[in-house]
Amino acid sequence: MLGPLDFGIVEKDELDRDIDKLRNILQDSIKELEKSGDGEQLIKDVKELLLAETPSERTPEFMEKFIEKVSSLSNESALRISRTLSHCLNLANVAEQTHLIRSVKNLESEEEGVLKFSCEDIFKQLIEAGVEPDRIYKALTEQSIELVLTAHPTQMMRRTLITKNNHIGEALEGLSNKSQSSRDRKDWEDQLRREISGSWLTDEIRRNKPTPLEEAQGGFSILEQNLWRTLPKFMKVLDRTCFKYTGKNLPLGFTNIKFGSWMGGDRDGNDNVNSKVTKQVSYFSRWIAASLFYKEIDALLFELSMVRMTPELAEAALKAQERRNTNRPKPVLTLYKEFGGGSGIPEREGYRILLAEMRDKMLLTKKHYEDLIGGQTPPPDHDDDDIYHTAKQVLDPLLLCYDSLISVGAIDVANGRLIDVIRQLNCFGLTLSKLDIRQESTRHSEVLDAITNYLGIGSYLSWNEKERQEFLIRELESKRPLVPKDLPCNARVQEVLDTFRMAAELPAESLGAYVISMCQNPSDILAVELLQKESGNKFPQRVAPLFEMIDDLERAPQTMEQLYSIKWYKDRINGSQEIMLGYSDSSKDSGRLTSSWSLYKAQEILTKLSDKHGVKLTLFHGRGGTIGRGGAPTYLAIQSQPGGSINGRLRVTEQGEMITAHYGQPGVAFRSIEVYTTATLQQTLLPPPPPSDHWREIMDELSSVSGKKYRSIVRGNENFVRYFRASTPERELSHLNIGSRPQKRNVSGGIESLRAIPWIFAFTQTRLILPAWLGVAEALEAAKEKGYTNDLKEMYKSWPYFQTTIDLIEMVLMKADPLIAARYNDLLVPFELQSLGKEMIGLLNKTVSSILSLTNHSTLQQDNKLLQHFIAIRRSYLDPLNYIQAEVLRRLRSNHVEAQNPILVDILIISINGLAAGLRNTG
Ligand code: PGA
Repeated sequence: MLGPLDFGIVEKDELDRDIDKLRNILQDSIKELEKSGDGEQLIKDVKELLLAETPSERTPEFMEKFIEKVSSLSNESALRISRTLSHCLNLANVAEQTHLIRSVKNLESEEEGVLKFSCEDIFKQLIEAGVEPDRIYKALTEQSIELVLTAHPTQMMRRTLITKNNHIGEALEGLSNKSQSSRDRKDWEDQLRREISGSWLTDEIRRNKPTPLEEAQGGFSILEQNLWRTLPKFMKVLDRTCFKYTGKNLPLGFTNIKFGSWMGGDRDGNDNVNSKVTKQVSYFSRWIAASLFYKEIDALLFELSMVRMTPELAEAALKAQERRNTNRPKPVLTLYKEFGGGSGIPEREGYRILLAEMRDKMLLTKKHYEDLIGGQTPPPDHDDDDIYHTAKQVLDPLLLCYDSLISVGAIDVANGRLIDVIRQLNCFGLTLSKLDIRQESTRHSEVLDAITNYLGIGSYLSWNEKERQEFLIRELESKRPLVPKDLPCNARVQEVLDTFRMAAELPAESLGAYVISMCQNPSDILAVELLQKESGNKFPQRVAPLFEMIDDLERAPQTMEQLYSIKWYKDRINGSQEIMLGYSDSSKDSGRLTSSWSLYKAQEILTKLSDKHGVKLTLFHGRGGTIGRGGAPTYLAIQSQPGGSINGRLRVTEQGEMITAHYGQPGVAFRSIEVYTTATLQQTLLPPPPPSDHWREIMDELSSVSGKKYRSIVRGNENFVRYFRASTPERELSHLNIGSRPQKRNVSGGIESLRAIPWIFAFTQTRLILPAWLGVAEALEAAKEKGYTNDLKEMYKSWPYFQTTIDLIEMVLMKADPLIAARYNDLLVPFELQSLGKEMIGLLNKTVSSILSLTNHSTLQQDNKLLQHFIAIRRSYLDPLNYIQAEVLRRLRSNHVEAQNPILVDILIISINGLAAGLRNTG
């Protein structure tokens, strides 16, 4: 529901028919696979537990009986029923996704420009709005969007099952093609049955925690399987549209999209990611990139058989031929040459000669990284020229081929596979995605403390900010080294130092930004700069502070102003700065409304400040998938930013389940990068006007009231943490093996020590979803009391930021359910805390009323019929899972010996899986 396919127009009856079809196949499979009539019984049991879609039909008497049934389920039945419900919810997702993809495709093939946020749609709109073609061209060719895939632990589903789902979707799509032969139809039908029964027979629980390397492999497979080919396809569409509306083609090799990664680089609170892991992941990404380019160049070699060429190309080919004849054979190529690799190319075929050399070198590059991954050092006769190190080394000969083909009139040939490879090179480089490193600010301070103590100049940790800055700048300007190679230190400090040393040794172009989480002061940034210098890094990473707590966000402009006024720093950044904004921690800190307004203001001020200092600012948005963690459909997220804050440059995280939702299939991946491109272009060229001062004042008040209310409960109520732990599965989330990192930054402590993900995850499961709305009702009420009702309505109508904020809260409220939240409260919360739970449920109801009165809707998301339908078709399956989950938590927490039964944990995990699938969000 939060995705690139938002504009699909699904034919509901057809969708319902497909969902029924899939569920029927599942039923048949269960009957067949579960021995001795058990399957029949299971289907019967499930049907008895399905809940009516409309809550009004769930009368108290009905619910009483229903709850009785759930409470009396044996563990075995609860497990089997949960599995069935969860599979049904999954199949509904697959059908929905397939229909959306199809409808987006249909819209694309209809009258041009019908599909919202397609290239055609936005270029047309821009021209109609009077934007000069030259301005569009300039904005587009200066656009730079980087999508950073992270390993945040929110993807509940195993990769095996995601793949099976894709196959089910593919078969459903195949069957929708009316002109299929009956044999093909039969094949698709077989595929459907095979994959559905295969899923049923697969364990949906991850039994082991993934290692960071495995997480990285997941990211690489998305890049390799879905984005590698999609990117050049998209660039062709963008190029065509650009030409149509501006009369110019995109510059050769230009790609507006790039990919970054945190998988294997993000060590913030995750000791499993260490310097060795980061190194392995970097080598691994180079190995995959070399394998992919090897195949592309090989295919090009086959294709570019032309004999007409420019003198430049002929000369380059001649030199390549000479090198080939004189060079000693490389061991890795010997066998390959025996099979005819690269041999026997007629002298006239200059392109092929050049490409043959490139292909061989790419093979050696691949072998080089294979050896490094296997722990082998390069052989003694290793020559650095044997392999590729930088993208430019590959790009130059390809450009030579391109220019030559254009000169001899082979324009279509040049703009075929060759331009695709050039674009792949520009987008993916020789690393597929550059790896960011993220580390918490205090870890760097600890290192500096160890150094200053060793040198006998005091304790860095005890110095104030001014003293720290003076020391750091002095050392940054000094030519003398500061850190002795054998500094005596503890393992934590050693690991940070090892990471800096490893980063200095990695091949060029491997790493992206160095992100500092919990960044508070200028010294946090200077500290990283100093440690990079001390490690002898010749190509230091750009350093991006991550401001994520409300106070830090408020102080961010001051922090940056101080930095911009330090000469050393100004010279170092050379006119460009990246700043990361943390959506979920700020939201956890003060609630959604306060967080979003603080982020809005911070972006405005940081943009102005950077302009004043002549610094090109790139804001890096650390958004999660769910609304409570800053998630929003791409176009809304971009449109609601303050005008001028994007200005063609955008970096954004793609986390956990969002990676599959946005890039899990080539068709969706295409649409995702298209929407990123067009929404950014539109926001850059037609930015929303700034809000009036009066609206700002109202927002300040809303934010202040809402933040106070949120904090007064979450932090101020001494019982709140106990209530949270009791009413949600937070404690049990540690059973989930969904990520390599621990759930908390520190082992002990209250809400502060908990990361934003489990905080929201736990409340999402119980359908209270409190973090996404707490404080909103009071803020709106206070504004009403001050006589701002009409202003609020006007803001909702005319200010994209405010409209998006309210719409997203409304969307969350649709997924919340007071009755279900009440069940968790009744069953799991100690009696003395239940009144707090009731108060929270009362606040949820109050929030619904205040949002409805603001939006003038009679029901939540009144105009979003599609979302209503999607939710309705899930409720009958989704809600029973909640009741089962609450019951299982009760059993797990009881003092009874039965609580040790491992089956209970399995039921819990399956219910969490099913709910995440049904709500289309983990947390
Ligand atoms: P973080 O991210 O805990 O890694 O900072 C939080 C989130 O994405 O919700």
